[in-house]
Amino acid sequence: MSAHLGTTWLGLDLANPLVASSSPMTGEIDRLRALEEAGVAAVVLPSLFEEQIEHEALEMQRLVEYGAGSFAEALEGYFPEMDRYVTTSERYLELVAAATRALSIPVVASLNGTTRGGWVKYARKLQDAGADAIELNVFLIPTDAYATCEETERRYLDLVAAVAEDVTIPVNVKLGPFFSNLTHTARELVEAGAAGLSLFNRFFQPDIDLEELKVVPNLTLSNPGEVRLPLRWVALLCGKVRGSLAVTSGVWSAEDVLKSLLVGADVAMMASALLRHGPGYATTVLRGVSEWLDEHEYESVSQLRGSMCFGSAPNPEAFIRANYMEMLVTYTAPSGT
Ligand SMILES: Cc1cc2nc3c(=O)[nH]c(=O)nc-3n(C[C@H](O)[C@H](O)[C@H](O)COP(=O)(O)O)c2cc1C
Repeated sequence: MSAHLGTTWLGLDLANPLVASSSPMTGEIDRLRALEEAGVAAVVLPSLFEEQIEHEALEMQRLVEYGAGSFAEALEGYFPEMDRYVTTSERYLELVAAATRALSIPVVASLNGTTRGGWVKYARKLQDAGADAIELNVFLIPTDAYATCEETERRYLDLVAAVAEDVTIPVNVKLGPFFSNLTHTARELVEAGAAGLSLFNRFFQPDIDLEELKVVPNLTLSNPGEVRLPLRWVALLCGKVRGSLAVTSGVWSAEDVLKSLLVGADVAMMASALLRHGPGYATTVLRGVSEWLDEHEYESVSQLRGSMCFGSAPNPEAFIRANYMEMLVTYTAPSGT
């Protein structure tokens, strides 16, 4: 008998632990259907950005102010134009509604921003459009040399609290790895209202154009080895935070999904590998997970989950400093160098 792959994430019952992470792959209904057919258990839609919402609000205000200051004749021509003004956020709400109609797996809408502004109110609209959960991606690069760590983390907490207060569906927070004490921040985020955390957001890394001497924004797909960073941190957080845990960044194979579960994640999220290999790749990964569980005589994903988190791994010190010095001093360069 095959192992039971079911898991619970953010309070949602999922058929298996593979979630399609937010990316252009989840932005069209046809591709979403293909992902569901290939077996992914939930999808996170591409983000709606704070900048988009705020820009639209400003544009709308500008149009209204312009209209209010116009003559009646001008207004006649103005209102139809307003009707035609279908905004990015409206299109996003339509995508959420269409996705929830088209799919029977949970659909997670994604909000992406850093400040506690009017845009936060969109969480409620996403819920009303049918989203099963919201992922809040806080892409915050602190640049103020006078802002303390506490102030910076307070921004996260305020934002999470503002979104979580506004909705009844679960809010998953997608974080970067750069915190003074992630274990403490993670606990506080859950207390502020996060139902789960996704580790880690992958910040795009700008490059430098040597000829033009310009900073070049640059987004590349992840590499498989990148999964080790979230694996370590999920292992360290497992059992210390009450919310769900998801591994994102560098999940490329069935092995990566299995390792994510072993360190205590409820799900593993995949974006780059699906973009590279197409939606059908999910079937290959899930088959690999199933086969490994059967070969190793596990009855279910829940039997495996967390058995190698920091509190239960046979050698937990390896997640922190153990063997660190030894590894460095005994390193031998690859032959030929
Ligand atoms: C082309 C591309 C677009 C992405 N767009 C979003 C986005 O809109 N919102 C978001 O939260 N993450 C976005 N991501 C990040 C992914 O959801 C994911 O967290 C990250 O790529 C690491 O996972 P991976 O190694 O499976 O790619 C994007 C990634 C890629 C490659």
